Amino acid sequence: MATPTWTRRHVLSLDDFSAEEYNIVLQTASSFREVLSRRLKKVPALQGLLVANLFFEPSTRTRSSFELAAKRLSADTLNFAPATSSLTKGETILDTAKTYVAMGTDMMVIRHQQAGVPQAIAMEMDRLEARVGILNAGDGQHEHPSQALLDLFTICSILDPDRPALDLLKGKKIAIVGDILHSRVARSNIWSLTASGAQVHLAGPPTLCPMLFAEMGADRPGPLFLHWTVEPALQDADFVITLRLQKERMEQNLLPSLREYHQLFGITRARLKLCKPDVKVLHPGPVNRGVEIASDLMDDPEFSLISQQVTSGVAVRMALLYLMGGGKI
Ligand code: NCD
Repeated sequence: MATPTWTRRHVLSLDDFSAEEYNIVLQTASSFREVLSRRLKKVPALQGLLVANLFFEPSTRTRSSFELAAKRLSADTLNFAPATSSLTKGETILDTAKTYVAMGTDMMVIRHQQAGVPQAIAMEMDRLEARVGILNAGDGQHEHPSQALLDLFTICSILDPDRPALDLLKGKKIAIVGDILHSRVARSNIWSLTASGAQVHLAGPPTLCPMLFAEMGADRPGPLFLHWTVEPALQDADFVITLRLQKERMEQNLLPSLREYHQLFGITRARLKLCKPDVKVLHPGPVNRGVEIASDLMDDPEFSLISQQVTSGVAVRMALLYLMGGGKI
């Protein structure tokens, strides 16, 4: 069998990821997880390459995780801070990006509050034949591919720690609960999980889980269902992904109160009894404790995979940078 190869220069969305690409990322991340378990957690794979983190929106875990991933691969890193940059003097985002290219940047990790910004920069880089790889680290409400890939890796690693692969998810039931409307994580999760052949169940109040999401399930290997109550989504679920209520993105009052939201959709021990006995809960963070998930549940290692997600994030981002930087598996 031919060795699978990686041909993608940019990672902007998961809507067109192939099963082979998912498996290459999972397999490469698995090798890097092994590297990260050693005493010397560093490899020279990207020595001499420059990775620039351009985060135009606040971030704790994604930014630190990409920075650490680049460092563990021995790349040089630059971190851009919008508040102290020339953006405040009116420089455009494209000109900022070109400045980094002129310094020899090989890969740019971009987060922006506006959907489409990483794509626009990627198109400009290709037009200029700059040979720079662009990684979308979250754009508006559009997508957050590296988060969905680390969620996938975390879930597959529970199912088979030695061989995390896409087909392990076939037929598994996965509930995604909460503010689907404002969540770029949910959109990327829907692409990756329906690609795996899992049954994906979205649940949230109608104002935060609109019918239009059903269209994302068309022609995917796994089915997609929508519910406006949480119970049918949780019934016999293998995994539950809870999402943060994105207060900063809510233009109108889409919810009567946070208390009522918790009563109707909050993930609690009592509600988890509906799921499979060995159910696991994920959350991309940051968490509104006591709103989308009960505070004690979040810290319970029997159910919660939240810390594993953060740990997996470094290995998955190392895999992405390595593959985009021309590494072979
Ligand atoms: C998410 C994001 O920023 O999209 N967080 C993350 O990257 N870990 C989810 C969120 O903000 O709720």
